[in-house]
Amino acid sequence: MLTYIYLKDIEDFTILTVKCNKIKGFAMNTFVPTRDDALNLLKKYNQKKGLIRHALAVEAVMGHFAGLFNEDEEKWRVIGLVHDLDYEMFPGEHCQKCVDLFKEHNWPGDYIRAVISHGFGICTDVKPETNLEKTLYAIDELTGLVASAALVRPSKSILDIKAKSVKKKFKDKSFAAKIDRNVIKEGASLLDMELSELITQVISGMRPVAEKIGLKGSL
Ligand SMILES: [Fe+2]
Ligand SMILES: [Fe+2]
Repeated sequence: MLTYIYLKDIEDFTILTVKCNKIKGFAMNTFVPTRDDALNLLKKYNQKKGLIRHALAVEAVMGHFAGLFNEDEEKWRVIGLVHDLDYEMFPGEHCQKCVDLFKEHNWPGDYIRAVISHGFGICTDVKPETNLEKTLYAIDELTGLVASAALVRPSKSILDIKAKSVKKKFKDKSFAAKIDRNVIKEGASLLDMELSELITQVISGMRPVAEKIGLKGSL
């Protein structure tokens, strides 16, 4: 009986130690990536101008929505900036390879989860749950549609585009056909937002970086 108690105590102690180590391990990862960290990481794995511009557009829109939802703007921007981290080098492992890359650089788990959830139903089964994740999911493809719609305007600018003309392009499935309208619709419903409102806010989010993302046009 005494032996039993002794062993049981050891077992409890072991369980406790493992738990404490896990907590310690978790507590030790206090790294909070800044925008500079995000930009450096993005440029380490991405060189293509189009992908960098897309990352900057998504960053800007995420920052805009963080403001609308009164959330942590820097965190939202950082995640927007790196959301396609693995796409250029590992397109066949999109939203999967990035997990290793982020872990290598000690990025926090909630940032990694947010990034991979934008591939929900396409390349991951991680469903967007938080406001941040739902927003990223909803606006990623839409920034592409808004950019394509701006580029066919006489001004080639995002500065004078209206939500109404983007909505027209949304309905025209032969226009920018690769952009998945269902993801955008699903994203709007996750956010409980009308499509027109979502488009309006995405345009507003992209405008301040029009020049950086090549959409200032002649204006
Ligand atoms: Fe992606
Ligand atoms: Fe993307």
